[in-house]
Amino acid sequence: MAVTHDACAITLREETAVSRDASPRRYLMCPPAHFRVTYSINPWMDPAKPVDVPLAVAQWEDLRDRYTALGHTVSLLDPRPDLPDMVFAANGATVVDGRVLGARFAHQERTAEAGAHLTWFRAQGYADVQEPAHVNEGEGDFAVTASYILAGRGFRSSPLAHDEAQEFFGRPVIGLDLVDPRYYHLDTALCVLDDAADEIMYYPEAFSPGSRSVLARLFPDALIAAGDDAAALGLNAVSDGLHVLLPSAAAGLFAPLRARGFEPVGLDLSELLKGGGSVKCCTQELRG
Ligand code: ARG
Repeated sequence: MAVTHDACAITLREETAVSRDASPRRYLMCPPAHFRVTYSINPWMDPAKPVDVPLAVAQWEDLRDRYTALGHTVSLLDPRPDLPDMVFAANGATVVDGRVLGARFAHQERTAEAGAHLTWFRAQGYADVQEPAHVNEGEGDFAVTASYILAGRGFRSSPLAHDEAQEFFGRPVIGLDLVDPRYYHLDTALCVLDDAADEIMYYPEAFSPGSRSVLARLFPDALIAAGDDAAALGLNAVSDGLHVLLPSAAAGLFAPLRARGFEPVGLDLSELLKGGGSVKCCTQELRG
């Protein structure tokens, strides 16, 4: 009897998805008017492959329109012709509790993007804006959960930047070692699904064995992505607590997201993939 009863309870729990709530977000984006692949700083970038700029613009506008249709606010940064990667706005700063930690790029080709972001934040009246001493590529390597700031290192951001972020934001920073060059930024291998409840999805193979153990310990219920979905940059996704915007090609993530009560929204950002980025890379969240 007891066994049957327990079995029933388990089945019920599995079938009843948690109820989810979207909360309105503020995002900073930069139109890909000058997006090009003229250099290669990650394995996705091949300057020999042509980029269809009007298509990139249309795909990016679709993403922006989805955000506004979902009730989110999108602010825009002016694209600069000399900065072809500027569309990847997530890399330009990290904003938590209204405080802005600027970026310092690892590659000279992107260095000037950091200043463009700082100028924007100051012009918007943000009072607490810090220019960093150490290399960090903004939300490319910093992911904010309820309890932590998860921080990638190994390809771009320096471990010293992790300490700097912890001191600046006053939140515990958990350093994670990235080991696969295809997943050179944390946001290519890990996505925060519910930032009010420490819920994430990630691709374990992108991390060192020790970092995998840390993730398993801190997030035992995480959604674990398969290699195919990670390779479609399916983890380069943005969640508002209910809707998860992600590349449609990451088909294997849709059912597990729905089973957890999320509403996946598939998008085609194939042109931006040529730069090594997708939904999240194009989206910087302005928190607080
Ligand atoms: N081409 C850019 C770079 O390699 C892509 C950045 C993608 N952004 C991101 N948040 N992962 O720096």
